[in-house]
Amino acid sequence: MPTTAILGLQWGDEGKGKLVDSLSAQQDFCVRFQGGGNAGHTVYPPGGKIVLHHLPTGVLHKDCINVMAQGMVADPFKLLDEINEVEVRGFKLAGRLKISDRCAVTTPMHLSLDAGREDGGSATKVGTTQRGIGPTYADRYDRIGVRMADLLDGTTLREALSRAVSVRACQMSVEPNVDAMLKPLREAGDKLRPYICDTALLLAEAMKEERRILFEGAQGAMLDVCQGTYPYVTSSHTTAAGIAAGSGLLLAPQDVIGVSKAYCTRVGDGPFPTELADAMGEKLRQKGGEFGATTGRPRRCGWIDLFALRYVCKISGVTRIAITKLDVLSAMGELNVGVGYKGWKEPGLPADIRQFTALQPEYKTLPGWDEDISKIRSLGELPATARSYLRFVEEYVGVPIGIISVGPEREASFFSEGAPKA
Ligand code: IMP
Repeated sequence: MPTTAILGLQWGDEGKGKLVDSLSAQQDFCVRFQGGGNAGHTVYPPGGKIVLHHLPTGVLHKDCINVMAQGMVADPFKLLDEINEVEVRGFKLAGRLKISDRCAVTTPMHLSLDAGREDGGSATKVGTTQRGIGPTYADRYDRIGVRMADLLDGTTLREALSRAVSVRACQMSVEPNVDAMLKPLREAGDKLRPYICDTALLLAEAMKEERRILFEGAQGAMLDVCQGTYPYVTSSHTTAAGIAAGSGLLLAPQDVIGVSKAYCTRVGDGPFPTELADAMGEKLRQKGGEFGATTGRPRRCGWIDLFALRYVCKISGVTRIAITKLDVLSAMGELNVGVGYKGWKEPGLPADIRQFTALQPEYKTLPGWDEDISKIRSLGELPATARSYLRFVEEYVGVPIGIISVGPEREASFFSEGAPKA
């Protein structure tokens, strides 16, 4: 049975949640393997919009088992709120949510550390979502982290918190109080107990039984802690390489669906060569509703960067691309697509952040279309110029466009077979 991955190809917010929602109806398992409450996957099940932060999007399909694997970080209080919100909407999670006992736990201390760094001015600021993600991952790799299993036992939890506090206290103006953190975290642990298990073992069994497994990425390839625009990245592995370590299995999904908007956005600090800091950027923001699902921050908007897209598709072994929000480009006049950077002759992207920041885009200008395409449900119905736009993307990147999305509704995505023909 094929395993599938859905990964972001830009700086997050590509519309992955909607695709996972569509595809997880046919899956046995939906697995989040990295990130945590920094993600904001917006989906529109019957009854209206839901934004998922920690929970895999498969929770909205009653036959799908949802795994928060060991590569994730979780804020237990926010996670419990989210579980409650989803259950109130009628999506019962008993027996369908499996949280890794090795998942890293975000404590109030991590939230303070994240906020403190962001308040430190341009020398330390990354523009994070302030969900404690960086400090939680840092503690994991510094071997002073708190893990889900620790929440289930008072003595283990006290030891884990004391260890972290003894190392981190010197970085904080007020020393975190272990006793104050202990009780609420233990209580959260008891509430989460029914869901906590060894998810690597669960997934290994599922693989052996050839169950259908969908790996749901969060953020995007350009925010990958190793591959992205470091240091303006998140703290996890967002490319396909993150799937194995994040789920605890040796595997490479057969179908890797890379998701890209028809244009590009970014939230937070860091370079964005094709950014439009002008009226066109503002038009994209308003028309595309480009405001963060987690923080509400206005997203920076710009043209699609095909050079970067081609690079990340290679790294992640993307087998087909899903282009989202194509409808937003209607009636925008001529459209630019980034096809390289002035004077940059390398096949890849620079690792040096100063070089990256200095990149100046080179564009190819393509004709636009005026028609409202939001009600279109097949490739052949698209205006010829929209099909040419897609064909240009596909040919430049060298990966077929398999899915096209023209609106937020579940039914507003359709499959295309191979190269879209104008
Ligand atoms: P952190 O993940 O909260 O530490 O934030 C690090 C960077 O990743 C910041 O630029 C955030 O804006 C960005 N980021 C984190 N999660 C998301 C997401 O789900 N969508 C878009 N950007 C994100």
